[in-house]
Amino acid sequence: MFAVHLMAFYFTKLKEDQIKKVDRFLYHMRLSDETLLDIMARFQAEMQKGLGKDTNPTASVKMLPTFVRAIPDGSENGEFLSLDLGGSKFRVLKVQVSEEGKRNVQMESQFYPTPNEIIRGNGTELFEYVADCLADFMKTKELMQKKLPLGLTFSFPCKQTKLEEGVLLSWTKKFKARGVQGTDVVSSLTNAMRKHKQDLDVDILALVNDTVGTMMTCAYDDPYCEVGVIIGTGTNACYMEDMSNIELVEGDEGRMCINTEWGAFGDDGALEDIRTEFDQELDLGSLNPGKQLFEKMISGLYLGELVRLILLKMAKAGLLFGGEKSSALHIKGKIETRHVAAMEKYKEGLANTREILTDLGLEPSEADCIAVQHVCTIVSFRSANLCAAALAAILTRLRENKKLVRLRTTVGMDGTLYKIHPQYPKRLHKVVRKLVPNCDVRFLLSESGSTKGAAMVTAVASRVQAQRKQIDKVLALFQLTREQLVGIRDKMRVEFEYGLKRDTHPLATVKMLPTYVCGMPDGTEKGKFLALDLGGTNFRVLLVKIRSGRRSVRMYNKIFTIPLEIMQGTGEELFDHIVQCIADFLDYMGLKGAQLPLGFTFSFPCRQASIDKGTLIEWTKGFKATDCEGEDVVDMLREAIKRRNEFDLDIVAVVNDTVGTMMTCGYEDRNCEVGLIAGTGSNMCYMEEMRNIELVEGDEGKMCINTEWGGFGDNGCLDDIRTQYDKEVDEGSLNPGKQRYEKMTSGMYLGEIVRQILIDLTKQGLLFRGQISERLRTRGIFETKFLSQIESDRLALLQVRKILQQLGLDSTCEDSIVVKEVCGAVSRRAAELYGAGLAAIVEKRREDQGFEHLKITVGVDGTLYKLHPHFSRILQETVKELAPRCDVTFMLSEDGSGKGAALITAVAKRLQQARREN
Ligand code: BG6
Ligand code: BG6
Ligand code: GLC
Ligand code: GLC
Repeated sequence: MFAVHLMAFYFTKLKEDQIKKVDRFLYHMRLSDETLLDIMARFQAEMQKGLGKDTNPTASVKMLPTFVRAIPDGSENGEFLSLDLGGSKFRVLKVQVSEEGKRNVQMESQFYPTPNEIIRGNGTELFEYVADCLADFMKTKELMQKKLPLGLTFSFPCKQTKLEEGVLLSWTKKFKARGVQGTDVVSSLTNAMRKHKQDLDVDILALVNDTVGTMMTCAYDDPYCEVGVIIGTGTNACYMEDMSNIELVEGDEGRMCINTEWGAFGDDGALEDIRTEFDQELDLGSLNPGKQLFEKMISGLYLGELVRLILLKMAKAGLLFGGEKSSALHIKGKIETRHVAAMEKYKEGLANTREILTDLGLEPSEADCIAVQHVCTIVSFRSANLCAAALAAILTRLRENKKLVRLRTTVGMDGTLYKIHPQYPKRLHKVVRKLVPNCDVRFLLSESGSTKGAAMVTAVASRVQAQRKQIDKVLALFQLTREQLVGIRDKMRVEFEYGLKRDTHPLATVKMLPTYVCGMPDGTEKGKFLALDLGGTNFRVLLVKIRSGRRSVRMYNKIFTIPLEIMQGTGEELFDHIVQCIADFLDYMGLKGAQLPLGFTFSFPCRQASIDKGTLIEWTKGFKATDCEGEDVVDMLREAIKRRNEFDLDIVAVVNDTVGTMMTCGYEDRNCEVGLIAGTGSNMCYMEEMRNIELVEGDEGKMCINTEWGGFGDNGCLDDIRTQYDKEVDEGSLNPGKQRYEKMTSGMYLGEIVRQILIDLTKQGLLFRGQISERLRTRGIFETKFLSQIESDRLALLQVRKILQQLGLDSTCEDSIVVKEVCGAVSRRAAELYGAGLAAIVEKRREDQGFEHLKITVGVDGTLYKLHPHFSRILQETVKELAPRCDVTFMLSEDGSGKGAALITAVAKRLQQARREN
């Protein structure tokens, strides 16, 4: 009995002595709580630095956005392929997710070796090797010819701008293949797979870091999981960060997973006070000196080597093995992490230590074994401590982001060191809990590696891809081929001829109305004129003073609103309202009682028998006042003036806005022979040879024709390109079946088309979380100005989202991208259709005059043309493409149609007087 006590005493004493000895020797490796809190604070600062746009370039902890935005919600399903490259083992897998709606994942996998000559050879060969393994796997599992999406777990730092792309920033751990850094690994692998074209039909949909895969794997079982940590060959962590804190990615709602790449912590010298001579020596002998300094103090690839370096030094100092060193102890990599783990085993540890040391050719004493075991403990404990400090920083950040006093969360864990080391997990857990007492942390070991999580990410990506296809299908309806545009140009040309000919005119949809405007102003016009401008966005009354000879005009105008109930009330009410506005204007200008000649810009189709007579054929756009169609609007205006009996006005001309615009521009540029409106409505006028106008007597000279091309297509000739959305817009309009071309091109309808598409996409569950809001049901919410704003290139996504929110549409950033695309598709088609129509007229003018080339100016006005960021450019490009022999100059009418109307009035007045004098 005494002997047993003596032995125990002896042993305890021996152990104490050895431990003290090692403790003294490795004093610098033992980190106090204070030091750990300090490291934690430093890591917090590093994270902040990595997240900032300006500070990221110089940050050593890169905080890489992963484009993984949500943890699995259980709705993921499908069959996926997965590659898992970069940990201790390379695997190819097939993953079947959630069959029959249950949370159910089945995996089949195969390991493949990663020989050094492959992972440190040529990059192309590395990817070819990976593709070969994949092909082999598919053959073995009889998956050939099956088109499966693939998720790639790639456990290295990659800079991502989307989920399916990742530029390798640097190799870490054991890999060092040439020519890969700085390139996109997804496209490299895709290229490598092309070699197996016959049997590999695989789409790489997601690239994920192993930390991300681990977090997602664990989150599939525990929705609280929002952190993933790897303590394996390498070490790293990811966590869900608030988008508003990620300056490198646009958007601020929701969260995104950040791959911290904490292994590089200290690469800027931030941990020099912690690093020991052993760390320095190990680093110098590594594949990437100066890099991954934190990782080199922690992870499995390095722990054994640290122990070896320490033992060697201790032996050299005579503190171990009686000063003997075995040659094996000199060999790099001779002690591995699995040895460290074995030596630290609770019961068999000492025996294992003896065996391992003996295998190294040493003859360890009992004391040596105890000392070596303690070296292992100090090294692995330091590793766990350092991990705990960094993890505690992440947990604190999460808690602060959520503004919680206590955080309940789960950390997904993986990696061989964590898994095989007998003491590691509990040490790590304990220290973390000590460092962040206000967090209730559950550590969840990922049983199935990163792959299950990677498959979840791929499942979401594949759903997004399927949705994308649906969206693209809708957008494709708006994409016109060159052939289609040529066809439209040619049909428009046919319609022009139809409208001009006496026989066909009655049935023509493009009415080609003679305007009785026969010449351009010659600069001799002068006087004071009133002008009205009715039918565009604004109703205006103007006073125009024309000074002869100087081609200069002074204008004063006032905008009045026309309430909807007046636009769609009775004709008498409408014209009384107009006269009321004129009276207000005259009052305002101090012209009460003045008798001025008046030009009436009336932007609707009118049949004219002279310049001052215009019978409204039918209302278009937003007007629908009763008792006007078939009436002379000049008479209606005169009668309203009479009814008021306050002033008299001499109504000299009634002018369409296209004509007014052409005149406004023609006053400056004599080449201007076309007037174009791309505004609320869509229309064009041009100067035609009298001999071609069969409806008007005479063959001499030219007359302006108001084409009223908005009616193009009313005979069904555009039905092949009209979409269901165009039809819906038409059906909901004031004039169903009419103005079909206008309804595909002008400002009043583009927003409506967009709205119809958005409703459909929402119904398909592709937008606004599938919820059709009241606002989206509201007609007219997308005015031209909003379309123009949304499509502006200068706007960041957030601003687009703000506009949509102002419109009452609760959109996410993804929604905003789609809305912007929809707007783009609709406005592009409009601009191209305009281009086709305009090409038809300039080509006609060129041919009619027998010119090889035509130089012509088009006067343009309208809010769509003026405000939209791309419309005018696309329109101009299309004209160039479809009328290559015409040199078309576009001249923006700065002063509106009012000025042109006044000029026409002046010319008409001069002619009137001349007639009277004769
Ligand atoms: C595995 C993952 O479970 O853990 C790998 O599937 C990951 O992707 C690995 O890289 C990390 O551990 P180790 O020890 O293999 O590097
Ligand atoms: C204005 C003209 O500048 O443009 C109007 O003066 C014309 O006569 C208008 O109708 C067209 O644009 P919108 O966008 O106002 O319909
Ligand atoms: C290395 C890699 C990192 C990976 C980690 C764990 O640190 O750089 O991307 O997550 O190892 O495998
Ligand atoms: C409508 C009108 C037309 C006008 C155009 C532009 O198409 O019918 O007369 O020119 O809108 O305002």
